[in-house]
Amino acid sequence: MPSHPNTPPRTGPDLYRRAKHRIPGGTQLLSKRPEMFLPDNWPAYYRRAQGCTVWDLDDRPYVDFTSCGIGCCLLGYADETVNAAVTRRIADGSMCTLNSPDEVELADRLCRLHPWAEQVRYTRCGGEAMAVAVRIARAATGRSTVAFCGYHGWSDWYLAANVGERTALNGHLLAGLDPAGVPPGLGGSALPFRYQQIGDLEAILAAQPNGIAAIVMEPMRLEAPRGDFLVRVRQLADRHGAVLIFDEITAGWRSHHGGIHLTLGVNPDIAVFAKAMSNGFPMAAIIGRTAVMEAAQQSFISSTYWTEAIGPAAALATITRLAETDAAAHIRRIGTQTAAGWRTLGERHGLKLRSAGIPALCSFAFDHGADSLPLMTLFTQEMLARGFLANGLFYPTLAHTPAIVEQYLAAVDAVFAMLRTHLDRHDVAAALRGPVVHTGFARLT
Ligand SMILES: Cc1ncc(COP(=O)(O)O)c(C=O)c1O
Repeated sequence: MPSHPNTPPRTGPDLYRRAKHRIPGGTQLLSKRPEMFLPDNWPAYYRRAQGCTVWDLDDRPYVDFTSCGIGCCLLGYADETVNAAVTRRIADGSMCTLNSPDEVELADRLCRLHPWAEQVRYTRCGGEAMAVAVRIARAATGRSTVAFCGYHGWSDWYLAANVGERTALNGHLLAGLDPAGVPPGLGGSALPFRYQQIGDLEAILAAQPNGIAAIVMEPMRLEAPRGDFLVRVRQLADRHGAVLIFDEITAGWRSHHGGIHLTLGVNPDIAVFAKAMSNGFPMAAIIGRTAVMEAAQQSFISSTYWTEAIGPAAALATITRLAETDAAAHIRRIGTQTAAGWRTLGERHGLKLRSAGIPALCSFAFDHGADSLPLMTLFTQEMLARGFLANGLFYPTLAHTPAIVEQYLAAVDAVFAMLRTHLDRHDVAAALRGPVVHTGFARLT
């Protein structure tokens, strides 16, 4: 197990300081900003990643106990079988005037796994796949307004919810999303409802005399639908002629092979996959019923790199390997072990933890008032010194073994003991080498 002299890495943080001058926002993804982990002292960049180990620019190894590539790498980093399929595809040409036959095989595979679906379109990233899904729904219904729950990417259709409102998206995973640059005319076209609150959705539908185009949601993320919530969502979609879109970008594949909705007894009209379906290579799929998907022919939905051949090759190899290894069962076990460890160690050291999520997407936060965020920052700082990338969010992978979790929990035990000491001395903030972690979207200086 890696361990480091208790000094923060330097090359990565220095490069990141340079990046912030050249790249507005520092990185291309809010969730990869070092400020979201350990401002000023996060390694920020990697030289190599393999299994669940990451080497920073100073060649220090860390075991990754965060979201593991923002939830993309369910098989672990640089999976050999996926890399082999991709390498073959590169050798045979990753782009061409003609199409990749893997597109058809992948479509068949996805529809066999989700028998309610008959047709498939592809993009490469999650947010753009959701934008395509919403476009198809709007084209299919001839309506504009969308009701949604949860986070669905950076597109105008989604950020429209915060136009004029500013706070509509708070409570939907990412707070503070600024709709600057989104046309004000889109205000009112995306209306949020809360998970488990069927009344919210009923109220939206009652207030829309012209109907809505789509209901967009993750079928499940942090918690299972209570009672008949999801069944009633399906009924409302049917009654009002709205397209029901399930966003499986983060929930799909990790708890169950395919969409998590397959375990919930409710089928959508469209489901969207990305991220984990191709283990770190860009690929996304919009699958749906023919009656709805055919609308993709009426609207111009077309992009050059949606036809490159690496994504489908990676997705076919990933899906095959996820099935062969029963990765979902392993991931559930690892998540259960980790979350149980957090609870036990929290109690042992008298730390109040709020844990959330399903085993495959588990998380905890400290519940110590104004000390909570400094405590999480200190946790990340001290876990880093012990060779772990760690915060309060863990997306297990096939590469995490029970023995690795034990080693991680031994480090958590030591760090929790240290946090307890600083809490008792009222000097948590003083133990930090840099600023406190950020929690949402904010302009960087
Ligand atoms: C549920 C959900 N939808 C959409 C997205 C956006 O996907 P991407 O970041 O690939 O654009 C994410 C990303 O975290 C997500 O979790």
